[in-house]
Amino acid sequence: MPLFPEHVIQEVAAKNDIYDVVSQYVTLKKTGGSYVGLCPFHNEKTPSFSVSPQRGIFHCFGCGVGGTVITFLMKIENLSFTEAVQELAKRANISLPEPKGYDREAAQARERERNLLMEINREAAQHFYESVKNSKQAVEYLKARGLSGADAKRFWLGYAKDSWDDLFHHLKAKGFTEGDINRAGLLASNDNGRVYDRFRNRIMFPIFDTRNQIIGFGGRVLDDSKPKYLNSPESVLFSKSRNLFSLNIALASRRDTVLLVEGYMDVIALAKAGYPNTVATLGTALTAEQAGMLKRYFKEVVLCYDSDGAGQTATERAIGILRDAGVGASVLTLDGGKDPDEYIKKYGIDRFNVRFRERRADMAYLIGQFGEKYDLTNTQERVAYVSALIPFFIKIANDVELDVYVRMLSERAHVSAEAIYSQLGKDRKTQVRQTEKQGPSPEALQRKWTSDVLDRARDTLLGLLIASKGIYLRHKEELSADLFGEEGGRARLFEAVTTAYQAGETIDEKALCLRFADEENNPASRVLSQENRFDDAEKAFGELTNTIHAQLREKKIKRALESGDLEELNQLLKGV
Ligand code: GTP
Ligand code: MN
Repeated sequence: MPLFPEHVIQEVAAKNDIYDVVSQYVTLKKTGGSYVGLCPFHNEKTPSFSVSPQRGIFHCFGCGVGGTVITFLMKIENLSFTEAVQELAKRANISLPEPKGYDREAAQARERERNLLMEINREAAQHFYESVKNSKQAVEYLKARGLSGADAKRFWLGYAKDSWDDLFHHLKAKGFTEGDINRAGLLASNDNGRVYDRFRNRIMFPIFDTRNQIIGFGGRVLDDSKPKYLNSPESVLFSKSRNLFSLNIALASRRDTVLLVEGYMDVIALAKAGYPNTVATLGTALTAEQAGMLKRYFKEVVLCYDSDGAGQTATERAIGILRDAGVGASVLTLDGGKDPDEYIKKYGIDRFNVRFRERRADMAYLIGQFGEKYDLTNTQERVAYVSALIPFFIKIANDVELDVYVRMLSERAHVSAEAIYSQLGKDRKTQVRQTEKQGPSPEALQRKWTSDVLDRARDTLLGLLIASKGIYLRHKEELSADLFGEEGGRARLFEAVTTAYQAGETIDEKALCLRFADEENNPASRVLSQENRFDDAEKAFGELTNTIHAQLREKKIKRALESGDLEELNQLLKGV
C-alpha cells in the first residue's frame, strides 16, 4: 500500500525522467519512440528491455518485469516502495509529506529494528577497537601481520577479549537488553541456557554495507585453533550472500575495476598497497547476487584468489557466475605465493603490480589453465580439453569475443575452429533444452510473446481499449474478461480498465503499471510498451476481435478433436 498521497506519487514519477534514471544502469538505444537495452533483471544476449520516456514506463519482454520509474528503482536497488519514492523525491528536489497509511507502523518497526541492531554493532565495534590497546596479545598479533594503528583505524579492526561476557556487560551498561544484543548476533548460548559472548579472543573485522553501516563482524583467532574465522549469523541486517567485505571502501575509491579476493586479510593488505578497490566474499563462495552488485558498480572484476587448488576451483566457478551476470572478468595469478597478503609480504608490491598488469581475460586464463591439465599431444586428451572449456564458451554473449577465443583454443588444441563451433552449436542446444525443463528461458518467453497470435491480438486489443475510451464505450457489450483469458494477467487488466471507464474515469497509465508491478509479468507495462498506432481505431477493433474469436474457435476445435468430443465438434463446425 502506498504511504503517500496519490498526487505526490504522480509528481515524483513525473519529475524523474525514466530515461535518465534507467540509463544510469542500462545502456539504451533509441528505436522509434522508445529505447531498448539489455535487461538488468535477467541475463540476456539480445535486448528485450524497453523504456518509453513518453509514457514514463518500462517493460522487459524477456522476463516480464515492468512498471514506472519507481518500480525500476525498487527492483534495481532492492528498495521498498516508500524508499524508492523517497529516493526519487530527493533526486527531483520534491519535499515529501510524512508517509502515512496502513503499514507505516510495520515499515517503521522494521526500520527501527535495523537501526537498533546497527547501533549495537557500532557500539560493539567501538568497544572491540578500544580493547586492542589494553591487549598486548592483540597488538602483537596485528603487528606480526604487518598492521599499524592507522590500519586498525581505517578498517575499524578490534579485539574481542578472552572473556565470556565482556561485550555483553558493556552493551547492557549502555542500556541494550539481552534480546537486542542477541538479535544483533553478538551472543551465543549453551544447552543449559547460559548466554555468553559469541566472539571471544578474536581479532574483529567489522563488515560494512554500502551506506557505511556496520551490519556484522568476522572474527579471527590469534592462533591455530578452529574455527579460524567466525562470522555474525544471518539476521534482518546481515546477509552473507548479499554483501561484500570492504565494498564501502572499494566504492569510495571510484575505480572502474575491483579486485575480488578470498580473505579479509588480503583485502586489507591490498588496500594498504594501493588497491583500495578490493573486496572479499563473507566466508562463502561468490553468489549471483554479489556478482550482480559488482556489475552495477564496476566495469571489470579481477579475480585474485589463492594460488592453491581450492583457489583455482573457486576461480573457475566465479568466472561462470560473473559471465552469467554479464560482467567483465579477468584473473590475476600469483606465482609462488599462496594468497595476495603473503605474496606482497614476500615479493613486494612492485611485483604484484606487474602481476596485476599481466592479468588475463577470464577465457584466456581458462584456455591456458586447462591447457596445463591435459597432454595436448594425445588426441583423446585434446578432445577432453576442448570439451572441458565448452561450458564456459557457451556463456560468451558477444560473437566477436567468441570468435577470438575459439581461434585461441583452436590454435592451442590443434583442433579446427569449425569443429569447436560445431561442438558449441550442439552444446548450446542441449543447454537450451535443459533450461526449458527448469522453466522457459527468457528467449523462449520472448518467442512466445511474439509468436502466439492469440495473445498478441489480446494485448493489442487491450492497448487499443486503454488508448480509446470511445471504442470501449461503443463496444462494451461485445467485450468480456473471457475474451482475454487469465494468462498473463490479461483478464485482470481488462477488469481494471472496465472498472475505471464504468466509474467515468480516464486511465492513468502509470498508476495502472504500478498496480501490476508486483506481477511476474506486468500486463499493463507489457501492453503499453508495444508501439501500436491505431490510425483507424474502429477498423483495428474489428480485426482484433475477429482474430481473437477465430483463434479461440480454432483452439476449441483442436480440443474437441483431441478429446474425441464429436457433438462439440459438430456444434463448432456448424457455427462457421
Ligand atoms: P589468514 O591470512 O590466515 O588470516 O586468513 P586468510 O584471509 O588468508 O583466509 P583463508 O584463505 O584461510 O580464508 C579465506 C576466507 O575464508 C576468510 O577471510 C574467511 O572469510 C573465510 N574462512 C576461513 N576460515 C574460515 C572458517 O573456519 N570459518 C568460516 N566461517 N570462514 C572461514
Ligand atoms: Mn592469508
